[in-house]
Amino acid sequence: MSEQRDRFTEHGQGQVFQFYDDLTPEQKDLLDRQAAEIDLTEVTRLFENLVQTTSGDSGNESLADQLSPAPFTPLPKNNGDPALWQTARETGEAALRAGRVAAFTVAGGQGTRLGFDGPKGTFPVTPVTGKSLFQVFAEKILAASRVFGKPIPWFIMTSVINHGDTVSFFEQHEFFGLEAERVHFFSQGLMPAIDDQGKILLAGKGEIALSPDGHGGSLRALVRSESISKMNAVGIDTISYFQVDNPLVRCIDPEFIGFHLLNDSELSSKALPKRDAAEKVGVFCEKDGQAVVIEYSDMPERLTNERDPNGDLRFRGGSIAIHIFSRELVRRLGTNTDPALALPFHRARKKVAHIGDDGNLVEPADPNANKFEMFVFDALPFAENPVIIETAREDDFSPVKNAEGSDSLQTSADDQLRQFARCVNAAGVDLDTDETGLPGIQFEISPLFADTEERFVTAWESQEETPEITDGTVIE
Ligand code: UTP
Repeated sequence: MSEQRDRFTEHGQGQVFQFYDDLTPEQKDLLDRQAAEIDLTEVTRLFENLVQTTSGDSGNESLADQLSPAPFTPLPKNNGDPALWQTARETGEAALRAGRVAAFTVAGGQGTRLGFDGPKGTFPVTPVTGKSLFQVFAEKILAASRVFGKPIPWFIMTSVINHGDTVSFFEQHEFFGLEAERVHFFSQGLMPAIDDQGKILLAGKGEIALSPDGHGGSLRALVRSESISKMNAVGIDTISYFQVDNPLVRCIDPEFIGFHLLNDSELSSKALPKRDAAEKVGVFCEKDGQAVVIEYSDMPERLTNERDPNGDLRFRGGSIAIHIFSRELVRRLGTNTDPALALPFHRARKKVAHIGDDGNLVEPADPNANKFEMFVFDALPFAENPVIIETAREDDFSPVKNAEGSDSLQTSADDQLRQFARCVNAAGVDLDTDETGLPGIQFEISPLFADTEERFVTAWESQEETPEITDGTVIE
């Protein structure tokens, strides 16, 4: 008799074990292990709070009266104080030289929109050599480690769906020049899908329908995987968080780190002025005196379109999922089991294929189930001294989300090319571009040659001979 079977039966979830007697010992073992990871009290609570009680959209308008735009520190080019940015930069650089910073990538998502068969981080993105997203980040981290004279450890969160493939990809490529023992992989948590009656669904007769618990699951996964203890042991207290899909991201940004530390912040975020009202990013707002991110789908429409007297969008601070966490905040939120002090779950209605009571697979035509995810930006109201600084799109954000159209490989490769063109032109090369800054040729700069425009100019000027930049040139 299975201990888990008893526990599930007591919680009204006995259906999960309805085919148990027909399973092989290995299948039984797998089901028992999956079941042991599930917190049934949490599942019941989520069913009661998020499925049975439908909040609907009626709260949307009353939400509008509670929100104001959260202020952010503007860039020097947008009337920010250059001296303040300089101080931040020096503070961040000192922290990097002291070895206080780790890089952290969340790479546990399913990447459904991209439709690529494999972990998203292995997707080739650079315009000439087709380096993968992981290689781009690895080289940026290695470049920063060299500049600041301290190795920067890299933590990568995967999920069961892609863990093995991710680790073997790094092994095959010899960790792209990083020291293997400083690259730490761990899998994120999983949540069961439930139907509208609160029953946990089976993906197979001996397999629970599980899916990753969202990027917000990264906080508890950092704790459970002992990554936080590892950081503590080597004196890392500052975590540079970014997503796997954005090749432009400054993985290690001294100014950002500096603002975080100068303000004794537990969570700092980058705000990107929205391109237009329709851009699908969350928005930094203030609610009850606290900074929060409101998802674009939850933003009351009248606020989304509202303009200030200058004609700018009033709620324009877009959240692009680039953060600095203090180790302490992650420890606190990742450890807390009190639902009032941990990240909340959000419900998503999804189509989930599952085994019916007759043992046959049911493939629904419409959403039939509820999945639960946590969002990392929900950490904001829990943080002491949150900081929000402005960033420039061309320096930090061009994600690969879709196979085609906006936020695709094409748009991201073009944005990389524009960045490369800005670098070489800043160094005095007269490379032709169109009015958007896009060169007519494909070329590439390795982060190992230079990872910022400023360092590119210095490195370029120190070359005895510089190559002519033509179609296919790779500067490395
Ligand atoms: P997205 O929201 O873009 O989701 O994730 P996704 O799964 O990558 O792609 P779609 O929506 O299926 O097309 C944003 C970031 O959060 C990570 C992703 O890997 C990506 O870096 N993420 C998302 C996780 O690490 N775990 C999750 O459970 C969800």
